[in-house]
Parts: sequence; structure tokens; C-alpha cells
Amino acid sequence: MKRSYRKTDMPVEQIRRLLEPGPIVLVSSRWQNRNNIMTMGWHCVMEFSPSLIGCMITATNHSFDMVRQSGECVINIPTADMLDTIIGIGNTSGRSVDKFKKFHLTPGEAATVSAPVIEECYAHFECRVADRKMLEKYNFFILEVKRATAAVWPRYPRTVHYRGNGVFMESGRNIARPEKFRPQNL
Ligand SMILES: Cc1cc2nc3c(=O)[nH]c(=O)nc-3n(C[C@H](O)[C@H](O)[C@H](O)COP(=O)(O)O)c2cc1C
Repeated sequence: MKRSYRKTDMPVEQIRRLLEPGPIVLVSSRWQNRNNIMTMGWHCVMEFSPSLIGCMITATNHSFDMVRQSGECVINIPTADMLDTIIGIGNTSGRSVDKFKKFHLTPGEAATVSAPVIEECYAHFECRVADRKMLEKYNFFILEVKRATAAVWPRYPRTVHYRGNGVFMESGRNIARPEKFRPQNL
């Protein structure tokens, strides 16, 4: 199919809107007996085994200090029905507010980290900070997933993806082409 779009320059600081296909996640952390949660869109898979995730946490966020000091966090996968909660958590600082209480969420026990899981979420990835090399310069954490738990149903949850400017996309129709893949389990 031949297709031509009319194109124009876009500010480089906005390209993230086209490169953020991953689901919005909720990062829970625990430090000095206090729990916190933040909303996160800027994350990426870095390696399958060991299971590594890279993510950017702005240094002024309370979660930055909590994850840096504790060396741990949980990446929780919320679903589309939680959108107002996702936005609320992303617009509130945990410095003076207990976001579990404020947003009526249930902290659950993780097996490998002290940070709590958010029970209402579809899946939980228990992470330890694996590498701090890019932390000072880029606020970029490299996390290793030590344990993952996920709901047994549905197989494809309705996740939420951020398109910038307050616009979200809900994951939708699947397009399956397994016969076109080499057998390497991608
Ligand atoms: C949709 C959305 C995505 C966000 N993604 C990130 C992110 O990837 N990294 C980040 O540092 N902040 C991100 N934020 C902002 C934080 O969630 C926000 O600053 C939050 O209040 C931090 O809470 P804390 O101070 O309790 O850690 C995002 C916010 C929203 C609404």
C-alpha cells in the first residue's frame, strides 16, 4: 500500500507522545515505614533474562528518594477502569499524603521486597535497583524484576497508555499473526 502523509516539524521534546506505547504503571515503594505510589509512563524493557526494566523518575518526585534509598519498588499494572485513580496519584505528592488511604487502595505483601503491591492492580512486578550508573545524570533507574504475579484472567487486560496533553488510549483489538513468527517466543 502506498501512503503519503503531509508532515511538519514537531518539537523534539514532544516525540515521547509517539514513543510511549507501554502501559501506564503505578510504582509503589516503601521507605522508613511509609508507603508511596506514583504514576509512571517512561519505562522500557531492557533485557528478558535477567528481567530488566529501565525507568525515569524525576528527582523532585518523592518516589525518587524512596526508590533510591530503599533500592526497591513494585511496578503494578492498573486497568482502564482505574483511570481517575491513575491521574489522581500522578497529581499528588506522597510527601505529606498517604496515597493508599487517599485513593482507597489496598497495600498487599510482596514476597521479595518490602514495598507493597497494590492489590487492585492486574499484575505486580517486584523489583530491586540493579544498576545506578545512570541515576545521577539521567534519573534513570535500572530495575531487576525478582518476582512477577498476574491475574489469571483476562489474558489481555485493558491497560491505559498515555498520548500526552491529558489524552489516554485504552488497549484494544488484538491482531494475531503467530504463523508469521520464527519460533523464538518473542
Ligand atoms: C500519565 C502520567 C505519567 C507519568 N509518568 C511519569 C514518569 O514516567 N516519571 C516520573 O518521574 N513522573 C511521571 N509522572 C508524574 C508523577 O506521577 C507525579 O509527579 C507524582 O505526583 C509523583 O508522586 P510522588 O511525589 O509521591 O513520588 C506521570 C504522571 C502522569 C499523570
